Amino acid sequence: MLETLVDQIPLDRQSDEPIYQQLIRFFQAQIMNGQLQPGTRLPPSRDLARSLGIGRISVVSAYNELQTLGLISAHPGRGTFVTGISEVSRANPAPPRLATRQAINQQNLRELMRLARKPGVIGFDVGTPPVDFLPVEAFRRAIDAVLDKDGAAAIAYEAPEGYLPLRRATRDYLSSQGISCRPENILVTGGAQQAIDLVVQSILTPGDLILTPTPTYVGILDIAQVRQVVPLGVPCDENGVRLDALEDILVEYHPRLMYLNPTFSNPTGQTMPLHRRRQILRLAQQYNMLILEDGVYHELHFEDPAPPSLKALDETGGTVLHASGFSKILLPGTRIGYVIAEREDARERMLRVKQAADICTPTLNQRAMHMFLARGGLPAHLDRVRHILRARRDATVAAAERYLPPRLRWNKPRGGLYLWVELPQDGPTAAEFYLSAIQHRVAFAVGSLFYPNGDGDYTMRINFAAHTPEVIEEGFKRLQKAWASHHVGDSEDQPFL
Ligand SMILES: Cc1ncc(COP(=O)(O)O)c(C=O)c1O
Repeated sequence: MLETLVDQIPLDRQSDEPIYQQLIRFFQAQIMNGQLQPGTRLPPSRDLARSLGIGRISVVSAYNELQTLGLISAHPGRGTFVTGISEVSRANPAPPRLATRQAINQQNLRELMRLARKPGVIGFDVGTPPVDFLPVEAFRRAIDAVLDKDGAAAIAYEAPEGYLPLRRATRDYLSSQGISCRPENILVTGGAQQAIDLVVQSILTPGDLILTPTPTYVGILDIAQVRQVVPLGVPCDENGVRLDALEDILVEYHPRLMYLNPTFSNPTGQTMPLHRRRQILRLAQQYNMLILEDGVYHELHFEDPAPPSLKALDETGGTVLHASGFSKILLPGTRIGYVIAEREDARERMLRVKQAADICTPTLNQRAMHMFLARGGLPAHLDRVRHILRARRDATVAAAERYLPPRLRWNKPRGGLYLWVELPQDGPTAAEFYLSAIQHRVAFAVGSLFYPNGDGDYTMRINFAAHTPEVIEEGFKRLQKAWASHHVGDSEDQPFL
């Protein structure tokens, strides 16, 4: 075993990649492709290090990382074994390839996604907006102006519902999107994420259902998990949540809340057309269900503006709770978001939960954000963001056409940050493709992360916003090579190699 392994491990001592990472890569590939079967005992770190002529610390670090990934486990006194996959294999006498797929569960996936943080990897995986053109100088001037104007009040506690002038400015900003509300109905939050969490906590109790599209924003799944509510995915078509499936669920389960991210959605980039929005609102009203609308990407259109938000279409005013913020369009790290809730009972509950969580959203950030909005900086900044994102989208689409094999399916995003890709079902899963992509120093988000029920094995999400067109092109070249490594001899994909 030791001699065979030592002969197979292709260590490159001149490479920039540390030896321990080369080892991780080797063992991962061997485990994922079934060369190292579940239950196989790995050589002791001391022996392997000696045989390879490397420091023991490299082997120990590699074994530790593989253990964190759930691919091996150490048993004191007995040795280190290929594992994780073994439990599935034992319970499920399926071909090793299938067993491998099933073993890559959500937890392992999240661990795997950490590999994207290695230096030199082009990361299409994260959900962040581009950071290279945040308005640093304008924001510095806004902070200075606030400190000059407000003095100590700018760094004291703020009212828990938020700085009133910011709530007024938000009301004005929203009215330009067709949303009419009063400042008293707006609660300033720590980003849209806290807004969503407050809605969940104030409407639901542990054990309740929350409907989500399938796939959906991973942040709502995280919230569901920690708040102990049960996400139930509603199947989607090209226009978003399917009405027939939704109505069946409404009849059967009477859920109280549905989460929707209807415009340039994360992860699919999809936008729900106007007629579907109206139909969903009607169903929600008919079955007495509230809608939690997440509108963080609403303004990021590259062609036509998005249809009106559900909140703008909600004539009753009480069906939609609208969560959004300034992260995706302006300044993610200031954590300024908001939720609009017409219903006083819901608003009161949210306020109590918010106070218990953090007393108030940081005062200086709120006031500086207000100053930035009051000085009229947002429209020009938004134009700039859209312009740059459109160029990155165009580069992504061009690179996808050029480098992705034809059997991978994707749609041109018309706004937002994401390209959603579907892989053919007779090839590698997205998790398997991800492992080879990492070896080629490029990363994406594995699609099953976004599925409440763990489906989506053959889907992946690419965030094109974080990189320049040149880096995007290079990233897709690497994806092409990674794909080719799975498809030696596959004639349909060959012309694109
Ligand atoms: C759909 C969606 N909603 C909410 C958030 C969180 O936004 P914020 O940074 O304002 O908390 C994100 C961030 O990725 C997102 O993609």
